[in-house]
Amino acid sequence: MSYKQTKRWIVDKEDQLLHKSSEIKEAALWIKKGEVIAFPTETVYGLGANALDEKAIQKIFQAKGRPSDNPLIVHIAKEEQLKDLVTDVPLVAKKLINAFWPGPLTIILKRTNSIAESVTAGLDTVGIRMPSHSIALSLIEAAGVPIAAPSANQSGKPSPTTANHVIHDLDGKIAGVVDGGVTGVGVESTVVDCSVDRVMLYRPGGVTKEEIEDVIGAIEVDPSLHAETEAPRSPGMKYTHYAPTGQLYIVSDCRKIKDYVQEARIKGHRVGVLTTEERVAEYDADIVVACGKRDDLSTVAQKLYDSLRAFDGQKAEIIYTEAFPKEGIGIAVMNRLEKAADGVI
Ligand code: TXA
Ligand code: MG
Repeated sequence: MSYKQTKRWIVDKEDQLLHKSSEIKEAALWIKKGEVIAFPTETVYGLGANALDEKAIQKIFQAKGRPSDNPLIVHIAKEEQLKDLVTDVPLVAKKLINAFWPGPLTIILKRTNSIAESVTAGLDTVGIRMPSHSIALSLIEAAGVPIAAPSANQSGKPSPTTANHVIHDLDGKIAGVVDGGVTGVGVESTVVDCSVDRVMLYRPGGVTKEEIEDVIGAIEVDPSLHAETEAPRSPGMKYTHYAPTGQLYIVSDCRKIKDYVQEARIKGHRVGVLTTEERVAEYDADIVVACGKRDDLSTVAQKLYDSLRAFDGQKAEIIYTEAFPKEGIGIAVMNRLEKAADGVI
């Protein structure tokens, strides 16, 4: 599928009358008609289509070049939409919904047959979340259907946190994008499975494990998040993701980065360094990117994907990144960097 032009609707997320905005109405109409539209959420931009329309869902997989065995998250605006989508909401899921929706938490539950087949890639479960972004909520309500949406990047690339990132990857491949400015959290939602006996974390994200455990007690963590030898239980976690074109290396002792940079430059490579505002002046490389502040890891999460994309813009061949503490949102940041580096540390 190709489009002469990908339409861009510019929308102010602070607008109190969003549901009346002609831009939202038009974008919602296109979704109802079976088109694919990108839109902002509080985590990253999503690439949305009607979750009940098989043909529309196929367009998402085509536009992204996404493997068909990787299921999509279904986005809803009201809790009552759940009853058509899942067979049962166990008590732990109810507690998580009360605590974290709307917000960056995706809950996996047993699905009904109302959802288009390819949304769930043949699984008998579906991941659902209620985003907390005003534009996402208005769009879902105006469309009147649940919206299935993966991140709106070309498969394998860093997720988009601005409409320009979306256009860079998908111009001409999707009908339109609702441009609501920069997203907030910067990394994707946390994915937890509540369809199994013991709740399991599949993907660290915007809601931390500690926050979840404060609500429902200790949870399991998919062993593949710690051991590369394990096969992940969530299909999407097995692919290389978030990767810039240059080879990314995570350097656990950041004092070594300067030496590595020098060696690589002597060999004639264009070298990048991903650091934070605190240390940005210390490096002498071709491209040095300050990704937030180390003393506030939520700012690192916010800028992470834009920073990774900046290296592509500057044609970096080799990129060294500092490592971050694996605590709070830092767990999600390091998970994405490890995937982007394809395990090279
Ligand atoms: O923050 C987010 O979650 C963003 C915004 C747009 O909502 N969406 C997002 O979607 O990151 P995506 O498709 O890039 O990642 C979805 C992840 C994948 O790792 C997928 O395998 C997993 O969720 N997933 C979805 N449904 C699943 C299911 N039924 N069982 C196991 N994993 C599932
Ligand atoms: Mg994604």
